[in-house]
Amino acid sequence: MMKTIIEPFRIKSVEPIRFTTTEERERILQDAGYNPFMILADDVLIDLLTDSGTAAMSAKQWAGIMDGDESYAGARSFYKFESAVRDITGYKYIIPTHQGRAAEKILFTILGGAGKFVPNNTHFDTTRANIEYSGAEAIDLVIDEGKDPDSLHPFKGNMDIEKLEKFIKERGPENIPIGMMTVTNNAGGGQPVSMENLRAVKNVLKKYNIPFFLDACRFAENSYFIKLREEGYADKSVKEIAQEMFSLADGCTMSAKKDALVNMGGFLAMNDENLAQSARNILIVTEGFPTYGGLSGRDLEAIAQGFVEVVDEHYLRYRLRSTEYLGEKLMDAGVPILRPPGGHAIYLNARGFTPHIPPEKFPGQSIVCELYRFGGIRAVEIGSVMFGKTDKKTGNFIPATMELVRLAIPRRVYTQSHIDYVVEVIIEMYKGRESLKGYNIVYEAPMLRHFTARFEPIT
Ligand code: F0G
Repeated sequence: MMKTIIEPFRIKSVEPIRFTTTEERERILQDAGYNPFMILADDVLIDLLTDSGTAAMSAKQWAGIMDGDESYAGARSFYKFESAVRDITGYKYIIPTHQGRAAEKILFTILGGAGKFVPNNTHFDTTRANIEYSGAEAIDLVIDEGKDPDSLHPFKGNMDIEKLEKFIKERGPENIPIGMMTVTNNAGGGQPVSMENLRAVKNVLKKYNIPFFLDACRFAENSYFIKLREEGYADKSVKEIAQEMFSLADGCTMSAKKDALVNMGGFLAMNDENLAQSARNILIVTEGFPTYGGLSGRDLEAIAQGFVEVVDEHYLRYRLRSTEYLGEKLMDAGVPILRPPGGHAIYLNARGFTPHIPPEKFPGQSIVCELYRFGGIRAVEIGSVMFGKTDKKTGNFIPATMELVRLAIPRRVYTQSHIDYVVEVIIEMYKGRESLKGYNIVYEAPMLRHFTARFEPIT
């Protein structure tokens, strides 16, 4: 067999990218308050801000867009969507939402509330925010290896089962309305969860009668990691592995903007009829009628087709390998990254990249700004800007567990030469890393501050 893993598609439609000069980008950065979320996408050369909603759709998905049934009730496209999602998840009730966080909002409006706790390996920021908004507390119980950027554990997204059981006993199962697992664990570096761990989580939750939900955004990537790394799965198809994963849980939330290969969409799915009824009642008030729930018929068509394409193993092999390729090139050059490479992104380890910048001066933000200034590349800080806090009592700064910069790879969008360029930029930047000085926050919103914060460079 040939060694080179090629993009398993040819390109039918292209979109130009705009080149800017370093001087232009310096001005753009300043105007954006040194927050890449505030930069116009047209001013970005290679956009690695997110893998969410940024996929290139296939010709068949675009054909589905034309074929979408836009009827208010009972649309044909809904049934196609429902059947494609059910084929893989096996869940009885499938409730479309406009994106992942809308599914979370509905779920926690029903199950959240003051005095409740929701454990997860690591909550993604919108999940955490929706839980906290309901008054409940979001608890992260990922294994210790999952917090160590250098641990080579094959399933760093796993949950610490002992901690989970201890937590349930301490807080009381009656105060834990649901337990979750995020596959792959985005906030922990896009790291996978093993089937064995999912089963163990399920068994603990079941013992205490607590429903188990997956945050399934990247279920296909997680399934392929299981195929590659977990004993007993090499000969199973990714689809079978995904079906087994979903069968261990009672339901899921999903942002279709990731592994459904679409630009917008999500859903909430479950087997519990009463929960589904409550969810649909909220859906009608906040999203739309249950057969479209915040989406157009054409969006539902694209998701249905995306669910077929994403479990294709040629696609997944290319997907995981191309992410790993970026990681390998950086590691070969000595650039500190979170290891092993995740599924949808490479995470630069900012603590190792710029050890001279303390967490309260936001090392990750410094790297993110320099990536844009120097190379026109947009990435996102996942560190103390996103998760750092100030202790209300003492006024002390509490840093994030890790200081990371995420280079998320949009699905089927960039080619190998784009990635080679990214590698070149980062290696050059790493050589000149001493020149990075850190930032201060000059404005922040009360929640999810990273989206709108403004910064000032330290000179
Ligand atoms: N859960 C996980 C694990 C996610 O990564 C995301 C989104 C969501 C839930 C929310 O879904 O955006 O459709 O509302 N992650 C994006 C990212 C935004 O860039 O990682 P959404």
